[in-house]
Amino acid sequence: MSAYKSIALDGPSGAGKSTLAKLLAEALGFVYVDTGAIYRTVGLCAFRKGVAPTDPERVAELLPELHLEMRYEADGLQHMYLDGEDVTQEIRRHEISRYASLVSAIPAVRAFLLDRQRELARHNNVIMDGRDIGTVVLPHADIKIFLTATAEDRARRRYEELTQRGQKLDFAVVLRDIRERDEQDSRRAAAPLRRAEDAVLVDTTGNSLEESFQLLLQTVKERLSV
Ligand code: DC
Repeated sequence: MSAYKSIALDGPSGAGKSTLAKLLAEALGFVYVDTGAIYRTVGLCAFRKGVAPTDPERVAELLPELHLEMRYEADGLQHMYLDGEDVTQEIRRHEISRYASLVSAIPAVRAFLLDRQRELARHNNVIMDGRDIGTVVLPHADIKIFLTATAEDRARRRYEELTQRGQKLDFAVVLRDIRERDEQDSRRAAAPLRRAEDAVLVDTTGNSLEESFQLLLQTVKERLSV
């Protein structure tokens, strides 16, 4: 048993995982680990090198040379570095979401990242968000939450987030891509998106951020006695 506490937060794209996890981490004094950002950085690497994210062999060849770093900076946020460059903003681009989803289906990529994720939970109280945290990465997490919402609700959030970042896209495209990613992330053979049997299901459809946050905080406090 680890002396540290861990919260596994899984769910499909756009359910509000990262925003809520950040707020929860602050409220509890835990380290927030955004594992999607790690897959996005691998996706960005393939994108930049002109490697098809659907080609497992070529993507696997990138791994030994991959200089990927995760640092917590003064702003309290997790920054991602690729070959020494801060790519924290770049990895949020819409086209990188697709690359991240495709490279994350490759078993060699998942194996490469597994220990790094576990290592973080060995040395910190963490709230880790992703797709397979409760099922594969931290199967003994103290609490597991599966956060979801309808595809329309999630697409609306993603659309607003991208618009705020200055990326102009049609809502219909964002919705189509969310559905495509759901399909890809859930159907893959390697660690698919799936609710762990012992995960608490939280549906945020129609909730404000504050409502979802309170709901999660209450769930966590009840279970962790913090
Ligand atoms: O959470 P996100 O949208 O930033 O994640 C980007 C992609 O990475 C997502 O489509 C699936 C993949 N991913 C994964 O396979 N396993 C994780 N633990 C986290 C993300």
